[in-house]
Amino acid sequence: MMNYEAMSRERAAELAGKDKVRILALETSCDETAAAVIENGRVILSNVVFSQIDLHELYGGVVPEIASRAHMEACDRVVDQALKEAGMALEDVDALAVTKGPGLVGALLTGVNCMKGLAFGAGKPLVGVNHIEGHVSANYLTHPDLEPPFLCLVVSGGHSHLVEVEDYGVYRLLGQTVDDAAGEAFDKAARVLGLPYPGGPRIDALSEEGNPEAFTLPRPKTAGEFDYSFSGLKTAFINTVHGLEQRGEPLPKADLAASFRGAVCRELTEKAEKLLKREAARIQSGELKAFALAGGVSANRELRRQAGEMCRRQGVKLYMPTVPLCTDNGAMIGSAAYYRLMRGEVAGLNLNAEPALRLV
Ligand code: KG4
Ligand code: ZN
Repeated sequence: MMNYEAMSRERAAELAGKDKVRILALETSCDETAAAVIENGRVILSNVVFSQIDLHELYGGVVPEIASRAHMEACDRVVDQALKEAGMALEDVDALAVTKGPGLVGALLTGVNCMKGLAFGAGKPLVGVNHIEGHVSANYLTHPDLEPPFLCLVVSGGHSHLVEVEDYGVYRLLGQTVDDAAGEAFDKAARVLGLPYPGGPRIDALSEEGNPEAFTLPRPKTAGEFDYSFSGLKTAFINTVHGLEQRGEPLPKADLAASFRGAVCRELTEKAEKLLKREAARIQSGELKAFALAGGVSANRELRRQAGEMCRRQGVKLYMPTVPLCTDNGAMIGSAAYYRLMRGEVAGLNLNAEPALRLV
């Protein structure tokens, strides 16, 4: 009898010549249990997201043990629902995919083990996916015309990267945060304002009614030209809030939120624009086709506006995932998995969670 790994490689090679390749993908790296069925890396046949926010809100952040348990309880249901909404049974899909990292180890392990069991049982190839690559790939689902090479700003709760997507699955790191991630900074600032977890979307909504010029926050300094730093901004923000509290003044929360959001977005787009200027010749020649946003923070309204203005100024096309595809979901994992599968990159039964996995 042929072993699972050999079968998987053989099947992946056959799938490279198939017209419609459907992948069932599962994402469990943090606090969303999410599954989707994706066709040819571009078409969403179903996309089910079960958020655990209610379970973690009480603690003001994600509690890893609670997340693992909740994933374990939800995995089967979410996977069944994704298949049902796609009008398919497990036998009908061509391959399976799962996030292998980065993320919370227990949460990742739950998903990896669930999909390993299903893939082995059904005799289907399995692809282990990098979560950050998943975020980048959310753009392929939203924009069928987008193809590498392009530049991408990946901003999430754990990552702030400027990368060049040289080809599918091939990245060049141009800059990254030296301390906090942009989403992390948003969440901490929200906490100081007494807003519930996750704070990013709350700060964003509150900012719409505030004056971004009301408070001046420092411009971060970094050694690397395209690196980011948000911890100084965060500390300055905390000091501003504490200063107001100590003087017994009421907190103008909308103005504070808007000033913080403005400062974070300015930092994100200023470095990105510097990069676009450096790459102007490659953009003009058509070699670099686009600039894309990715990750949970790319749902931010101000960042989307500022990125729009920046790309107009620099004469480059802007791509962004639709807002629901910015935050964690299974669809983006299914998209990333397709391009890996087409290259024959399938996992063995020794696939493991890699909590500190890097994009490059
Ligand atoms: O990509 P994601 O869902 O998970 C990670 O891979 O980290 O990103 C979650 C992060 C959280 O920090 C959340 O507060 C932030 O993205 N976020 C936002 C917005 N929506 C989500 N931050 C600012 N504005 C938003 N609208
Ligand atoms: Zn994410």
